Amino acid sequence: MATKFELSELIRTGHFIDGQWVASANGKRFDVTNPATGEVIATIADGGEADARAATDAAARAFPAWRDALPKERAAVLHRWHALMLENADALGHLISLEQGKPFAEGRGEVLYGASYVAWFADEATRIYGDLIPQQQRGKRMSAVKEPIGIVAAITPWNFPLAMIARKIAPALAAGCTVVGKPAEDTPLTALALVMLAHEAGVPPGVLNLIAASRESAVPAVAAWLHDSRVRKITFTGSTPVGKYLARESADTLKKLSLELGGNAPFIVFDDADLEAAVSGLLVSKFRNGGQTCVCPNRVYVQSSVYERFGDMLARRVAALKVAPATDPDAQIGPMINARAVEKIARHVDDAVSKGARVLAGGKRLTALGPNYYAPTVLADATGAMQLSCEETFGPVVPLFRFDDETQAIQAANDTPFGLAAYFYSQNVRRIDRVARQLEAGIVGINEGALASEAAPFGGVKESGYGREGSKYGLDDYLSIKYLCQGGLE
Ligand code: SIN
Repeated sequence: MATKFELSELIRTGHFIDGQWVASANGKRFDVTNPATGEVIATIADGGEADARAATDAAARAFPAWRDALPKERAAVLHRWHALMLENADALGHLISLEQGKPFAEGRGEVLYGASYVAWFADEATRIYGDLIPQQQRGKRMSAVKEPIGIVAAITPWNFPLAMIARKIAPALAAGCTVVGKPAEDTPLTALALVMLAHEAGVPPGVLNLIAASRESAVPAVAAWLHDSRVRKITFTGSTPVGKYLARESADTLKKLSLELGGNAPFIVFDDADLEAAVSGLLVSKFRNGGQTCVCPNRVYVQSSVYERFGDMLARRVAALKVAPATDPDAQIGPMINARAVEKIARHVDDAVSKGARVLAGGKRLTALGPNYYAPTVLADATGAMQLSCEETFGPVVPLFRFDDETQAIQAANDTPFGLAAYFYSQNVRRIDRVARQLEAGIVGINEGALASEAAPFGGVKESGYGREGSKYGLDDYLSIKYLCQGGLE
């Protein structure tokens, strides 16, 4: 049996339900396009309520046997899936570039990143311990055991079409849950390819089900899961308004939720920072995926005494970034995901400039490359009156805000309803301790711009959501604790 696939073999056009590739119950289909060119890559099944319900039926049938599989049996399947992801990393990386637009090196990097969660949770599957509670009364034994929560609905975004779904499915399967999933309408092909590899790896029919849906069909499809009491958990990465909608709509069946929502991350550069390191860290964190990540710095605060110098150093490096289609081996930034994304970026930059921001680099669309390209941009003299100070731009734009002292920087950084990531650069150890404790964020980068790791807990506070992905904590979101009290043991 072949285990290394051509790109064309990885492109699937149906839903995957109960171990079969199937068309939509209503026969509908939709186009998936390349954001670099607007060309149609594939026309695929457009799932609705009936498909979502069929997926849940399959997941419910498969649950008892998967729950009762030995942890090491589930781990073995996940390890095979991990190996297949690595074996097909080039083709998957190309597929990510094709439908999402990130340069191939980043697309391939995402495959390795997503695969690292699969390997991690394969190992964690065999370490789901409970507790024997110290005896409280004679003749009674009390213990706590962890059990899979049940059917999990995974709803994933377009910006990391492989890594985000892998880091939801892997812990769910490791815990013994079965899964129904829906990837974003812009990037369903990578998720479908991943599910194909999971099937090749031996994930039994019904354990993992995926339906694709267009923007219009997604609401009724997801509603079928929200209102179905057999679905016990929703795990979602995406915008805060959608996260709140999911929380409201699933309240009637009291599902457990993991919500990884919007960011608006601050990045603070103190005057005692290593400025070269701060510029490099900012480039890594800001321009990953062209600025389209939830943990990208959205507001950069620079202390007055180093403000102009830092702005010049940054602008020089940003102006040198190569913007090109993902197929160009030198590309560092590809197209944005769609026209709506570019509109928002242009609106933020225009608004900032109209309110007094100075363009140090970029500041314009790159229409010669295609409709969805925007130049990496640095804006000086940003203020709290500008839209980009309170809304996530989700694009390659760095606004530089000025501050005078530490209290002011922390106050400004925390002045947002969001709290996913925050970053700061300083070489003062006392300051590092103070600032790290005061920043209201689930993830803090200290003199470091690249934070993600399968071994670390990823998630936010405030309106950036709740739950953690990755790490030893990531499995708990898919487990419930059962207390056993056994009497009559005198
Ligand atoms: C995200 O943008 O939601 C995820 C980014 C990451 O995993 O680092």
